[in-house]
Amino acid sequence: MDSPQIRPLGSEAAAQMAGLHKRAFENIGQVWSCEDLEALLSRVFTRGWGVFAGARLRSFILFQILGDEAEILTLASDPEHRRSGHARSLLEKSEKEFLPLGVNSLFLEVSSDNHPAISLYSAMGFAQIGLRKNYYRMSNGESTDALVMQRKLMKF
Ligand SMILES: CC(C)(COP(=O)(O)OP(=O)(O)OC[C@H]1O[C@@H](n2cnc3c(N)ncnc32)[C@H](O)[C@@H]1OP(=O)(O)O)[C@@H](O)C(=O)NCCC(=O)NCCS
Repeated sequence: MDSPQIRPLGSEAAAQMAGLHKRAFENIGQVWSCEDLEALLSRVFTRGWGVFAGARLRSFILFQILGDEAEILTLASDPEHRRSGHARSLLEKSEKEFLPLGVNSLFLEVSSDNHPAISLYSAMGFAQIGLRKNYYRMSNGESTDALVMQRKLMKF
């Protein structure tokens, strides 16, 4: 069995990213197609890394750089390979890559009912800096708030 490795994401990984994203978010009906992901990856301000076991994508993260900040656009780990430290290692890798680029904070929006993700971000030193009421509209017509979380960058 190959030990997982972190590699930068390119368009060749878009199909695997779309599949993993669908599995990770299907309970909330958020679907990003292969074409959506290819378009995102082609943007100059997008950065992404994946955890690969051989050729198989286990987890990935995508950012957009906004001046001296980077926003997490999405983060997903394969449901069959969670709690293996993949998301944590991607956040650590991101920090190492961003610091020399002059990026000094990471931020994101996360649904207030997404307890695994909030636990992850809290464990990684993110703090809530805002709240967007009724930000996410679910397919059943209900809505949830978004927490805005931020982490100042420094060595882990
Ligand atoms: C949130 C998510 C990305 C975490 O990925 P992961 O690879 O399983 O996370 P890790 O194994 O790196 O977890 C690191 C730490 O985060 C916290 N954490 C992660 N999942 C957790 C859970 N289900 N419950 C409580 N804490 C959790 C823990 O502190 C964990 O450390 P530990 O395992 O040593 O206790 C994953 O659950 C996922 O893909 N969820 C669906 C998509 C999603 O919600 N993405 C985030 C959108 S903002």
